[in-house]
Amino acid sequence: MFGAQPHIVARLPLSGVEKERLFVAAREVLTRAYAPYSKFHVGAAVLAASGAIYAGCNVENASYGLTICAERSAISAGVAAEGASFKIRAVAVFNGNDAPCSPCGACRQVIFEFGPDADVIFQGRQGLEHSTAHALLPAGFTL
Ligand code: THU
Repeated sequence: MFGAQPHIVARLPLSGVEKERLFVAAREVLTRAYAPYSKFHVGAAVLAASGAIYAGCNVENASYGLTICAERSAISAGVAAEGASFKIRAVAVFNGNDAPCSPCGACRQVIFEFGPDADVIFQGRQGLEHSTAHALLPAGFTL
């Protein structure tokens, strides 16, 4: 085989309680976003296979391209806490502008790494959208 495969997680349907915990965490963390340039505050929360929830917000920089999205912030928190066994069951993303906001391409690839079957919930054009990592990133890259 050629190195690490992305973590494969059997897809467990999210319970209403799990979804609510994710939404609360994502909405809470977006209040701490550092977004003085775009004024677009984003919060993401990740439900790990362990049952833990990790939250992250976007962190911008005067050198704009160095910005870290909320999703990758949350995933970094999960890896820092759990190490290489970290697996994602679900991700929720909210923003302070109530605007459509699906994960960017870079974040899709990073979500895919830790949870190709993960549920991904975000604000779409007509309210909340429920998708999955592999639906958002067909043929995601693996090594
Ligand atoms: N952003 C996120 O944090 N997540 C997304 O899914 C889309 C965009 C951030 C990056 C930047 O700080 C701001 O939103 C505007 O692009």
